[in-house]
Amino acid sequence: MTVPLHHVVAGDGPPVLLLHAFPLDHRMWSAQIEALSARYRVISADLRGFGATPLGDEAPDLDAMADDVAGLLDDLNVSGCAVVGLSMGGYVAMAMLRRRAGLVRALALVDTKAGADADAARANRERIAHEVVSSGTLDVVLSDVVPGLTGATTAAERPEVLDDVRRLVTAAPPESIAWAQRAMAGRPDSFAQLAAFTGPVLVVVGDEDAIAPPAEAEAMVETAPRGRLVTIVGAGHLTAMEQPGALSDALLAWLDEEVRA
Ligand code: MLT
Repeated sequence: MTVPLHHVVAGDGPPVLLLHAFPLDHRMWSAQIEALSARYRVISADLRGFGATPLGDEAPDLDAMADDVAGLLDDLNVSGCAVVGLSMGGYVAMAMLRRRAGLVRALALVDTKAGADADAARANRERIAHEVVSSGTLDVVLSDVVPGLTGATTAAERPEVLDDVRRLVTAAPPESIAWAQRAMAGRPDSFAQLAAFTGPVLVVVGDEDAIAPPAEAEAMVETAPRGRLVTIVGAGHLTAMEQPGALSDALLAWLDEEVRA
């Protein structure tokens, strides 16, 4: 069963859906919501378990998140839109290609990757899932996940961003963290879906991204028939928060050319 997604809609124009990273919520997009809503109808949703959206009862599976998103678009009478997903949001966007490809008219994959997890990454996710639930705290997330989310430039030049990231992360319930880690561990490879997608694809990567590094971005660009790469300098994994203006500019330039034109 799908869960109703808490969401925010801003602006008018062609619809653009923003899907957030793990373990944050739609507020990580605040700069992009402001910039894009000047000429697009921007829909930003909290994926299940995060922000103001309940976790629901389904077993961990990114397809459940994709089905929730499809349900939201149906409710909003959106028959197709540009989908922008950052990291876990990108995994959900690629799951949409498997579940309801017709809803995806254009795809921006930001700081994400199309491959499945290797065994060691799966085991690490299970370790984190187990620990958050058994301890009832986010300690392991703060020690083992959060430091990798941002790059060295942000730490040196905009340390206040780290506080914003921490504030969003600590709003997430342990059960949602565990659910999402297990869902991501089980995600399949999405290269076949990317190769079959005939719409425009923008791939964006922070040059300091250690979680979904530039080589992952290049592999997606080479696979998508209409793929294009933008590298954001001075950003780690969370380009939306680390270099918000540069990401907004890249998205707007691409949307104006590929979606609005
Ligand atoms: C994210 O930012 O959504 C996560 O880092 C994704 C992941 O753990 O693979």
